[in-house]
Amino acid sequence: MTKVLSKATSSLNGVIQVPGDKSISHRSVMFGAIARGKTTVTGFLPGDDCLSTIACFRELGVTITQNGDQVEVEGKGLDGLKEARNVLDVGNSGTTMRLILGILANTPFHSTLIGDSSIAKRPMQRVTKPLQSMGAKIDGREEGNFTPLSIRGGQTKGIHYQSPVASAQVKSSILLAGLQAEGTTSVTEPEKSRDHTERMLQAFGIEVKVDGLTASLEGGQTLKGTHIEVPGDISSAAFFLVAGAIVPGSRIELKKVGMNPTRTGIIDVLQNMGASITFANVNEDAVEPYADIIIEASQLKGTEVSGDLIPRLIDEIPIIALAATQAEGDTVIKDAAELKVKETNRIDTVVNELTALGVKIEATEDGMIIRGKSTLTGGKVSSHGDHRIGMMLAVASCLAEGDVEIENGEAVTVSYPNFYEHLASLQR
Ligand code: S3P
Repeated sequence: MTKVLSKATSSLNGVIQVPGDKSISHRSVMFGAIARGKTTVTGFLPGDDCLSTIACFRELGVTITQNGDQVEVEGKGLDGLKEARNVLDVGNSGTTMRLILGILANTPFHSTLIGDSSIAKRPMQRVTKPLQSMGAKIDGREEGNFTPLSIRGGQTKGIHYQSPVASAQVKSSILLAGLQAEGTTSVTEPEKSRDHTERMLQAFGIEVKVDGLTASLEGGQTLKGTHIEVPGDISSAAFFLVAGAIVPGSRIELKKVGMNPTRTGIIDVLQNMGASITFANVNEDAVEPYADIIIEASQLKGTEVSGDLIPRLIDEIPIIALAATQAEGDTVIKDAAELKVKETNRIDTVVNELTALGVKIEATEDGMIIRGKSTLTGGKVSSHGDHRIGMMLAVASCLAEGDVEIENGEAVTVSYPNFYEHLASLQR
């Protein structure tokens, strides 16, 4: 589907409740599925990715009821999972693929995992290698790097893993395998990635130790079903934070957005760029802290985005690049080679699609340089099936002189099913 969007006829004003956090929603179902007893979830994200997680665990014999953002999972423990009669299809979801492999490392049966054409290009050795070294039998194209993958789990042994990348998916997969492994399992990262797994495992009654860049746990622990309240996704809020900052005269209030410090890099960057951001109804005591965020338009200036900030905003780089097009001066994004292995190669897709809209932007080996300030033209662009590229281009249309035609615009449903309705509701 091609989505045709025109320049905003006014400033953007209003209140938005962004859908539930994708990372936390996935984990609520996965951990609920391997816990003993019922888990209830509110604020769940009913986007395609999280629905893929539900579908996979149903294939593995778990009873899950989902109604909009309410979910109930009837957990029977890890040994309650059953060999699936069909392949497990993760769709577009890298999180589902990598975390489920960690869980299946201890199930004494065979599973086959597939996904869409984007998943088929994403590297899986980053989890299959450490899981193999724990004792799981895994195979797949190019020595277990690409789908289709097959796994036969069994009794694993704990490892101390020094991860070459700051990746919550890698860390979580290994820790999930470690839950049933013999002895201690620990993961050390080069920079800290999002810590939703560590926080949520504790809510399920698991003892997890966190010491700087290392997270560890002892094997043989049992998860107990619980209640999980999922806050709004800051990665979804990011599109409206930038829209509010760059469309002149705008004021947008975003309700109950997750404020986990491993995810708030976008706030730091926008503030460095001179954005006007205030907070209300702050709750720092919840397992996952949250707050309302209010953004008002202001003139931004260029900045540098690099180092240990990168894992704290890795998914927000496409929309940060758009913000940079409206800033005075250059913005340099570096240390972000991980962008190449996301839903698309996001260095290429951001640079190519923004170039098509008249932006002066250059790709580098590990990021990009955006020359501000640009006038955005209209044009024909594509999401390339990447939800975050689609949403970034939709926000760009609010400022573009001509119409922006987004090929494959429906990709946004991966993380934000009602994104276009929310964007339209801000225009009066
Ligand atoms: C995620 C971790 C990040 C992020 C992805 C979701 C997660 O990936 O980009 O959208 O839920 O653990 P990496 O951990 O591979 O960086």
